[in-house]
Parts: sequence; C-alpha cells; structure tokens
Amino acid sequence: MIQPTLHSTTQSMTSPFLAACRRERTEVTPVWFMRQAGRYMPEYRALRERYSLLEMIRTPELATQVTLMPRRLGVDALILFADILLPLEPLGLGLEFVPGRGPVLQHPIRTPQDVRRLRPVTVEEDLGFVLETVRLVQSEVGGQVPLIGFAGAPFTLASYMIEGGSSRHYLRTKRFMYEHRDAWHTLMATLAHVTLDYLRAQVRAGAQAVQLFDSWVGALSPHDYRLYVLPYTRLIMEGLADLGVPRIHFATGTAGMLPLLKQAGGDVISVDWRIDLDRAWDTLGPDVAIQGNLDPVLLLAPRDVLANEVRYILQQAQGRAGHIFNLGHGVLPETDVGSVEFVVEIVHRGIMR
Ligand code: CP3
Repeated sequence: MIQPTLHSTTQSMTSPFLAACRRERTEVTPVWFMRQAGRYMPEYRALRERYSLLEMIRTPELATQVTLMPRRLGVDALILFADILLPLEPLGLGLEFVPGRGPVLQHPIRTPQDVRRLRPVTVEEDLGFVLETVRLVQSEVGGQVPLIGFAGAPFTLASYMIEGGSSRHYLRTKRFMYEHRDAWHTLMATLAHVTLDYLRAQVRAGAQAVQLFDSWVGALSPHDYRLYVLPYTRLIMEGLADLGVPRIHFATGTAGMLPLLKQAGGDVISVDWRIDLDRAWDTLGPDVAIQGNLDPVLLLAPRDVLANEVRYILQQAQGRAGHIFNLGHGVLPETDVGSVEFVVEIVHRGIMR
C-alpha cells in the first residue's frame, strides 16, 4: 500500500495531468486529446500505408512509436496506442477492421448459448503485446509524461459483440438485454472481470492512469443504466481503487445521468459538449475532477471561433482545481494538426484570472 501512494505523490508534483486528476491546483490546465494518435497525423498515415491497424497494435515497437507521436503537440499525457475491442479476439469473437466499415466481428453474440461459449481470457498471455507496449513507452519517456492505459467498459464492448460492429440505435443490443436478462448479466459480469484484470495488468506494467471508455452508454435511459450497467462499471472502478492511480470514466450523451455515472465510479468524469462544463460539474459535485469538453468538430472551425470556444470552456472551469481539458469525443481524421497545437497553446496560456 505504501508504494503506490509514494509513487503517486512524486508524479503529482511533476505532472499537471496527474495533479488535476487528484483535484490539486496546477499552474497550467493540463490538456490531452482522445484519439490524439491517429489518421489526422501525416506520420501516422505514413506508417499505416505499410501496416494494418491490428499489425501496428500487435507490434509493441510500432505501437510505442505511435503512442509517442503526439508528444510534439505539447500534450500533458500520452494514451496507449491500442483499441478497446482487442479483448474480443481472445474471447472468441474474431475481430477484424475492414477498410470503410470499421470493426467487424466474425462470430457475434446472437443467443444466450453464444454467451456460454465465450472463451476464458488470460490477460498476460492473450494481450501481452499491449503490456509490452506499456513497458516500452515507459522506458522511452522515463516517467516524464504520464501514460494513460485504457479499456472499453462492459456496455460498449457488449454493444459491439451483439451488433457485430458499429451501430446507430443499438437495437440488437437492447433487445438482447430486455429478452435475455440472465445471459445479459452473465455477459456483463464476464466483461467486467476481464476488463478489471486487463486494466490492473496495464497499471502493473507502468500505466499511471486509466480511462474506461463507455462511449455508447448514452443510448440507454437512466433507469436502464442503473439496472443493466452500473453494477458492472462499479465492479471495475472499485476493483482498481487499491492501485492508487487515477480512474477516468468516459462516456458520451450522458448529460441526463451524470449522478449515476458518478455512482458507478471514477476520480475523473469525462463529459461531452452536449452539456456546459460548469453545469456538469455542479451536477457532479466538487469531489470529482472533470475532463472535457470541446466538440471535436470545432477543430475544423476557423481559428477565432475555435479560440473563443476553448476560452469559454476554460472560463467555466475557472477557480476550481481538477479540470483536464479534452474533447468530448475523439479527434476527427479531417483535423489539421496545427489546430490541435493551437488548442494546446491556448489552454496552457490560460485565461486572465
Ligand atoms: O490515440 C488514442 O486515442 C489511442 C488509441 C485508440 C484507438 N481506439 C485506436 C484506433 C483508442 C483510445 C481507441 C478507443 C476506441 N476504439 C473506442 C472508444 C473511443 C471512442 O471513439 O468512442 C471505440 C468505440 C473504438 C472502436 C473502434 N476502433 C472503431 C469504431 C474504429 C473504426 C472507426 C474509426 O475511427 O476508424 C476503430 C479503429 C481505430 N482505433 C483507429 C485508431 C487510430 C483508426 C484506424 C485506422 O488507422 O484506420
């Protein structure tokens, strides 16, 4: 128990990102971007011409190289280059990324029997390449910039497993949830345990914070969230508590259920642009840090419009410790790298206090 505490104190002194996660005052507002390593970067696209996404992710040297690419933007944290869907391969679903279509699962879950057929996952063996990337990144950056590990949350993973890929309305997922309650709960419990093991292994390998992506959970009503999702997210968040690393809980479209997300857990709650940052923070209360919440499309807007919106967000957070500037969702491939650098500069310069 002593070691993680000492470790975290040393890191907080040097990293505004880790300090803000703990709601400590920082000289600058820390900033990083979801999907900060990706297709909007020319150096990423150059590498992608030679390798597929999964090849890049499964080769620790390449994944490390991509993880480090956003360093030149001046961001306050790096996020591991991997994907939330990786555990679906060892679970037996057959994961592919098809150009123009996104993720495709060869063996989706359609019946309760399919849930029973899921294979046991041993993180160290089945996802060892991710852990190796964490170690390699750490040896490159020497703790100078914190590394965020991550995983998909059970609902968002289940949605891909049941739909067989991306979806708009989550009809299959919700029908499965309502029709096959027992199988749903078995599936969610399985995913929660795998995710917890996976995140704990990433922290053991050297990740200094973790983010749980529940990207699509805003598709549910608050009542269904409480019934079908909350216990499993809570199991993961509570299961990470003893490690002493900040836990970021990310979701989109959740303005109507922020108190429930908080109940599920996390030291930092990440919100999107569909709610004002100050209103979200007032709803959540002062005992959590907040991450967000620029609309990624604003990175495609003229610089003056972009600058105004960034400052508007900073104004809403003014005076309170514990704001991590980010987008409400990932950087879009159409984004100009210069606009991302521009945002980092404005955030670090801050507004007149
Ligand atoms: O820079 C980073 O943020 C780290 C790497 C990262 C990737 N995926 C790499 C990736 C992270 C954190 C993710 C998370 C992820 N993956 C989420 C949660 C965040 C979110 O956006 O809501 C989800 C839902 C996925 C699943 C996924 N992966 C989809 C739906 C797609 C296809 C759509 C798309 O953007 O292309 C992917 C592919 C993917 N994962 C890419 C990257 C860089 C693009 C692949 C390419 O190079 O062709």
